[in-house]
Amino acid sequence: MKLAILPGDGIGPEIVAQAVKVLKALNLNIEMTEAPIGGAGYEAAGDPLPDATLKLAKESDAILLGAVGDWKYDKLERHLRPERGLLRIRKELNLFANLRPALLYPELADASTLKPEVVSGLDLMIVRELTGDIYFGQPRGISTLENGEREGINTMRYNESEIRRIGRVAFDIAMKRRKNGQKARVCSVDKANVLETTELWRQVMIELSAEYPEVELSHMYVDNAAMQLIRAPKQFDVMVTGNIFGDILSDEASMLTGSIGMLPSASLDENNKGMYEPSHGSAPNIAGKDIANPLATILSVAMMLRYTFNDEVSALKVENAVKTALAQGYRTADIATAGCKKIGCNAMGDAVVEALV
Ligand SMILES: NC(=O)c1ccc[n+]([C@@H]2O[C@H](COP(=O)([O-])OP(=O)(O)OC[C@H]3O[C@@H](n4cnc5c(N)ncnc54)[C@H](O)[C@@H]3O)[C@@H](O)[C@H]2O)c1
Repeated sequence: MKLAILPGDGIGPEIVAQAVKVLKALNLNIEMTEAPIGGAGYEAAGDPLPDATLKLAKESDAILLGAVGDWKYDKLERHLRPERGLLRIRKELNLFANLRPALLYPELADASTLKPEVVSGLDLMIVRELTGDIYFGQPRGISTLENGEREGINTMRYNESEIRRIGRVAFDIAMKRRKNGQKARVCSVDKANVLETTELWRQVMIELSAEYPEVELSHMYVDNAAMQLIRAPKQFDVMVTGNIFGDILSDEASMLTGSIGMLPSASLDENNKGMYEPSHGSAPNIAGKDIANPLATILSVAMMLRYTFNDEVSALKVENAVKTALAQGYRTADIATAGCKKIGCNAMGDAVVEALV
């Protein structure tokens, strides 16, 4: 198996180093090659996505990314900015399925702004379509009408095959997540009462569910889903939705856990090749101080083992090691509470390695 390691900018190199340390401790047969992206790509080759980095990513089975961006690049021309490197690599690799888990460890229940009993033990997965919908639909633009008034247009569109392929990802994930004989559940989020695009979305999801008799499919309008995520988030297992609804709901869900340093993510292509990265950014304000939380990146490695390398045993090992480190009281500054053992980024990586069994 080949893995491209793209640390990126800011805290990227520090947190990725911890994830690599954990991966190496597992002694798996994975060939790792590092390359620059984002600001680091610009510094190395004048391009936020250097050709050699893209080539490596294309030739690899998976990509582990830290984060890109730093305020010092804000004055560069748009196409040279670090974030362009990220958008381009997602597009070049056709990563259409974005997986954003929201998982709250009982030890961190106080970090959420919601009551502990509402969020403690939360474990849901949002599957967001990433390459279609109103973000990409044509026609689009701002034009001037005959009466001189300006008008903005965007077009929400999905075709059947786009809906079916993201639906499949969600149903397959629900099957993989099924625990202790529980029924796998998918909740498809749409606005089928108003938008024809999502009326088709709902029809296709229902058709597809016939192929997955083990999975219970339900439907929810997006406005209700936004409300239910705050009211009773533990009712959800896997949620699947389009690009714009997913954009909003996944950020909402991530905040249920109260801690951005804990949330991994994955973006997959049709063959389960994936790019794995923490949900947070490059945090230039704390870069180089050894205080960043590496757990989101380490948990991204667990997702990689599960979804691209199909190695559930190793994925669970990593997730359990994170749980053990937290249960032992270890915390980085962002999740520290009274009475905990406050440690730095590097020491947290060591604590997770230590807890691997
Ligand atoms: N996927 C990505 O690479 C990505 C995503 C978002 C933002 N960015 C970029 O990151 C840069 C900073 O953006 P921002 O400040 O809006 O968002 P950010 O996520 O980098 O930081 C937001 C806040 O969270 C803290 N934080 C983030 N990750 C942390 C961690 N692992 N441990 C402890 N604290 C953590 C930061 O210190 C900061 O206070 C910008 O250049 C932006 O473009 C990149």
